[in-house]
Amino acid sequence: MKPRFLMCPPDYFGVEYNINLWMTHNLGRVNSTLAKKQWQNLFESLSQYAEIEQLKPQPQLPDMVFTANAGLVKGSTFIPSRFKHPERQPEEIHFCTWFASKGYRQFDLASSVSFEGEGDALSEPNNNRLWMGYGFRTDARAHELLKVLFPQCTALQLIDPRFYHLDTCFCLLPGGQVMYFPNAFSAASLQTIETHFAEKNRIAVDEENALYFVCNAIVADNNLILNHANPTLINRLSALGYRTTLTSVSEFLKAGGGTKCLALRL
Ligand code: ARG
Repeated sequence: MKPRFLMCPPDYFGVEYNINLWMTHNLGRVNSTLAKKQWQNLFESLSQYAEIEQLKPQPQLPDMVFTANAGLVKGSTFIPSRFKHPERQPEEIHFCTWFASKGYRQFDLASSVSFEGEGDALSEPNNNRLWMGYGFRTDARAHELLKVLFPQCTALQLIDPRFYHLDTCFCLLPGGQVMYFPNAFSAASLQTIETHFAEKNRIAVDEENALYFVCNAIVADNNLILNHANPTLINRLSALGYRTTLTSVSEFLKAGGGTKCLALRL
């Protein structure tokens, strides 16, 4: 069975407020025509390996295109996001309505605890572990609440504001490897990662690759869809059996998102 994802077309996408460092210098600077073309190219690339559901975009919600932040899906359960910033909070109702219409059961975390969905919560393929990022968006307290559904949940502290969501610097691969940018994590969290993953399973990326959001890759079986990656990294991934597709989402990087932010795993 093909993996399934949720995407939202970029009809109203833009950088219209400033809630992360990437947005700070890009206010009003998105080329909408190019953004639509890039989103369409990504949609077509991903369609080769996955089924894609689409959500209707809403005016005045420019970041709704980043469906990875809708929430987190576990089987037929949907755990909705509680956005930290008021600018994104009006998206919540639209995401919840869509999941309810598709018959998902909703599991609410406490409303006073911010949680930004798959942006900060990634399931490890082939086991039941969930990795949660905190420090910028998701509240550290979400860890205890998520444990109800994911008894094996490990929290990682993010310390570099350019990598404010876990999915910008940490990517779990189906062969048991992790691709990550070490400097994005506190010393203790880096130690946690390096204890859990044997050295042969750790793909540490350098800052140049990390800033192109290589860790923000869409993973569909052994296919990785990335904004960019240098030849050394592509070769390393291909030696491990991964096929990489590069598709530029440079307009979305202006808002602080790469390919994976644009697609939520269903
Ligand atoms: N402008 C959006 C925000 O700051 C970008 C979200 C990126 N999404 C992600 N899953 N990392 O919230």
